[in-house]
Amino acid sequence: MLGYALVAFSVLFASIFIPRQWSTTTFVNESANRRLINSDELTFYDGKQGSKGLYLALLGQIFDVNKGEKHYGPGGAYHFMAGKDASLSFITGDFRESELTDDVSSVPPLQLITLYEWLSFYHRHYKHVGFLIGRYYTESGEPTETLLQIQASLAEGHRLKAQSEAEKTRFPPCNSEWSGSTGGRVWCSTKSGGVERKWTGVPRQLYAPGSTAVRCVCVENPFEDDPNVKKYAGCPSSSESCLLDLISVFF
Ligand code: HEM
Repeated sequence: MLGYALVAFSVLFASIFIPRQWSTTTFVNESANRRLINSDELTFYDGKQGSKGLYLALLGQIFDVNKGEKHYGPGGAYHFMAGKDASLSFITGDFRESELTDDVSSVPPLQLITLYEWLSFYHRHYKHVGFLIGRYYTESGEPTETLLQIQASLAEGHRLKAQSEAEKTRFPPCNSEWSGSTGGRVWCSTKSGGVERKWTGVPRQLYAPGSTAVRCVCVENPFEDDPNVKKYAGCPSSSESCLLDLISVFF
């Protein structure tokens, strides 16, 4: 009985929280009840007097945002999003007319996560009314190759995020302070970098592979032999705190 209840709950959960386009296998049937609109038609939904309504599109998915008229209607701070797909502006924050495009091919994988969070926001707060024929959906409502590439890049973003979170747990950031008279100091504590743990660790320089970027991290084992981890010059191996001079910071 409990098993049936769990399955039913999972189906309900998925149907509410997983946006349709993430499930490409059910996409075609699901979209049968949804409208397919082209970009010319979408311009008639900009909320201006005499318009057909107030819609916006994100990654080719169209939402009725009439409920948020104070944001998207004429005079609202986000009116520029109405009647079009301005996906890129959700990432760049550049709301100039010339920069409003649905082309997000320049967006790095990690930032695509933010874009999909916006998509999830619209699914939660507004009614999904259909799909925009164009860059992301074909005339028959199928995802385009471009959308599949964006989804693959999103998956890469999730992988990178998980990797960076795992690294942050292994090498939490140090505490740091700078004073004009005494110079800089980095030190470790059981909460440094916002990572609560049982060990304190010792400060080390962590080099990003393939880049010259360096940051201070706490390493549990003073004898850590990771090739990207380097001791601070002049600081004892097992010291929990290191004083920095400009030379050791930059070289
Ligand atoms: C990439 C940059 C940004 C984007 C894409 C963005 C987008 C949005 C959107 C779409 C809404 C309406 C949400 C809804 O439908 O309820 C909103 C609301 C709002 N945004 Fe932004 N925003 C950005 C940056 C900012 C910044 C920098 C500020 C403040 C300095 C700001 C302040 C607000 C406020 C106050 C609201 C209204 C909240 C409410 O009344 O419910 N936004 N934003």
